[in-house]
Amino acid sequence: MAKDGNKSGWKEFIWNPRTREFCGRTASSWGLILLFYLAFYIFLAGLFCVTIYVMLLTLDDNKPTYQDRLATPGMMIRPTGEDLEIIYTKENTESWDTYVQALNSFLSPYNNSVQEQNNMVCIPDEFFIQEDSDSVKNNPKRSCQFKRSWLEECSGLTDLTYGYGNANPCVIIKLNRVIGMLPGKDGPPPSVSCGPKGDDGDKMGNMTYFPPNGTFNHMYFPYYGKKAQVNYSQPLVAIKFTNLARNVDVNVECRIIASNIQSNNDRDKFAGRISFKLRINSKD
Ligand SMILES: *[C@@H]1O[C@H](CO)[C@@H](O)[C@H](O)[C@H]1NC(C)=O
Ligand SMILES: *[C@@H]1O[C@H](CO)[C@@H](O)[C@H](O)[C@H]1NC(C)=O
Ligand SMILES: *[C@@H]1O[C@H](CO)[C@@H](O)[C@H](O)[C@H]1NC(C)=O
Ligand SMILES: *[C@@H]1O[C@H](CO)[C@@H](O)[C@H](O)[C@H]1NC(C)=O
Repeated sequence: MAKDGNKSGWKEFIWNPRTREFCGRTASSWGLILLFYLAFYIFLAGLFCVTIYVMLLTLDDNKPTYQDRLATPGMMIRPTGEDLEIIYTKENTESWDTYVQALNSFLSPYNNSVQEQNNMVCIPDEFFIQEDSDSVKNNPKRSCQFKRSWLEECSGLTDLTYGYGNANPCVIIKLNRVIGMLPGKDGPPPSVSCGPKGDDGDKMGNMTYFPPNGTFNHMYFPYYGKKAQVNYSQPLVAIKFTNLARNVDVNVECRIIASNIQSNNDRDKFAGRISFKLRINSKD
């Protein structure tokens, strides 16, 4: 009956009444093991906390410790998000109403009244430098007004449909925030320039830029970060497409033009440029 012997051997291993051992160890032996691990883990946790604490001491709240020499900013368009297409039928109000709503809510923080309350009137055409002196932080930092009305026909104030209702849609471009960037340093201010992508040239019609020439004024730079510059409003450029070809896809590419920003990097399709598709269906 080898099987039975085996079974009782197991039982004895788990609890041996003669030696009062549990799994081969006495209670005090188990206690010591637990104590050792407890102390060991408390020590590890302490070491971890000290390391993190020391690392945090070396970080500056207001700017990233590690950043590329000049990160090339990405660009984003509104009213669409990630999908980068604007497709609608002129006669079907519902097909473009979501775009109008998206622009309304996007531009709401740029209302003249909001900007006048939160931000200051800056000296145009020069960088708005607000450096910290050695140890005293010059915070919070002020930000410059960017008024919705400056987008004129694309502001949604004069033309409540941003041109969507008459097939001359507006697209708004913003440059992603890069802390400390001085675009167009030692040169003209950065500007947006859009053109046909591929052979869509004859379909694109004309474009009008707001503010004029599609510039981002120097006064909105540098950006000091969310914490230091709480009311910062990113400058915008709006492009109104007039006489786009109807019922066909039109591929558009917009680039940022600035002396110190590369927008033709083949490895990064999103650095300093953005492509999107427009398609307006219409019976006329
Ligand atoms: C901005 O202005 C628009 C149109 O005048 C208005 O509908 C909206 O409520 C305003 N938003 C804010 C936050 O003031
Ligand atoms: C940000 O806007 C608020 C609300 O208008 C204002 O009270 C505050 O002074 C502004 N802060 C800065 C740094 O401009
Ligand atoms: C479009 O641009 C061309 C040349 O750039 C100009 O001749 C034409 O008048 C413009 N059309 C409209 C409707 O603005
Ligand atoms: C737009 O660009 C033209 C030519 O580069 C320049 O003459 C004009 O002053 C610019 N307009 C504005 C408002 O910057």
